Amino acid sequence: MSAPPKRVLITDSVFDDCDVERDVLEPHGFSVTQAPSSDPQTLLDCISEGVAGILVCFAPLDEPLVRAAGENGCRVIARYGIGVDNVDLETATELGIQVTNVPDYCLDEVADHTLALLLACARGLADPIRDRGVGSGIPYERIRRLSGRTLGLVGLGGIGLRVAARARAFGLKVLAFDPYRDDWDGLDVEPVASVRSLVAESDYISLHAPLTDETRHVIDADALAAARRQPILINTARGGLVDLDAVLAALESGQLSGAALDVTEPEPLPDDHPLRDRPDVILTPHVAFHSVEASDELQRRATEEVLRVLRGEPPQNPVNRPRELAEATD
Ligand SMILES: NC(=O)c1ccc[n+]([C@@H]2O[C@H](COP(=O)([O-])OP(=O)(O)OC[C@H]3O[C@@H](n4cnc5c(N)ncnc54)[C@H](O)[C@@H]3O)[C@@H](O)[C@H]2O)c1
Repeated sequence: MSAPPKRVLITDSVFDDCDVERDVLEPHGFSVTQAPSSDPQTLLDCISEGVAGILVCFAPLDEPLVRAAGENGCRVIARYGIGVDNVDLETATELGIQVTNVPDYCLDEVADHTLALLLACARGLADPIRDRGVGSGIPYERIRRLSGRTLGLVGLGGIGLRVAARARAFGLKVLAFDPYRDDWDGLDVEPVASVRSLVAESDYISLHAPLTDETRHVIDADALAAARRQPILINTARGGLVDLDAVLAALESGQLSGAALDVTEPEPLPDDHPLRDRPDVILTPHVAFHSVEASDELQRRATEEVLRVLRGEPPQNPVNRPRELAEATD
């Protein structure tokens, strides 16, 4: 039998180099390879050469790639980030591949970015007011007092709770729809029973749920039809939560008065997408997670998870329970 592979593949990353990965893994006898591109065929070629583990950022690791990984020695897939919707968890679990994430490295950054987007919309900063004379060019009629208005959150987990705390400091009342949260005591957040009620009662709607079958297009034409206060939509969660065609139609009809999107589907939006260049839309390129501190922490902690699993230690943040492990311990 040939020796198990000792190579860890980086499919894609947002970091300048892979010095941290090498520092963590090489002293333990593992080598680090960066894929030349993250298109599926290139990744399949890289994986077919044998991999002990994979570090992935945004590249989709769908069933064929995860299966190829399993057949070529892969024991761990570590996501540089929180959401694992780009990894086929079911196949990984079936093949005994441990999937990990880093669930808490950037909660403050995403909450800060959400508030930055909310404030930019509220104060009309998306409109071209720069380079004009003092007091001119401000979209006066669109700027309303923030204090006393209502922010509705879809999802009240790590990031949603931080957004709520920041929003209250600006005098906003906070509502949330989160069917999986049992404990609302002391949160100072009012639970609502449906997304439609949330949309109806909110001046700002901000999304903080994971992307699942249940949350895909949670903001669609039907949900937006419930709007009564011409709300502004903010999405720093996942692009798939929002039907962008419905958002465009709602902006054009005035149902929505603005949108601020850090994440979109597709990502990035095509250059000629009609949401680009609208004065009532702010787009940022999936950067809500970033700060120097968060990125350093993310790169190191994701790599340390790979090392733990490859050394037979339990990971700190398992996302699945691979079948072999479950059978061995149950
Ligand atoms: N833009 C970025 O750079 C960036 C960075 C990190 C995380 N994110 C995204 O932010 C989102 C929130 O992350 P988090 O760390 O707060 O996650 P979390 O798991 O702590 O919280 C998610 C919350 O959503 C709730 N939820 C689940 N299904 C729901 C549903 N159907 N309707 C309403 N609520 C539902 C859960 O009960 C939970 O309270 C995720 O989508 C994550 O991928 C984006």
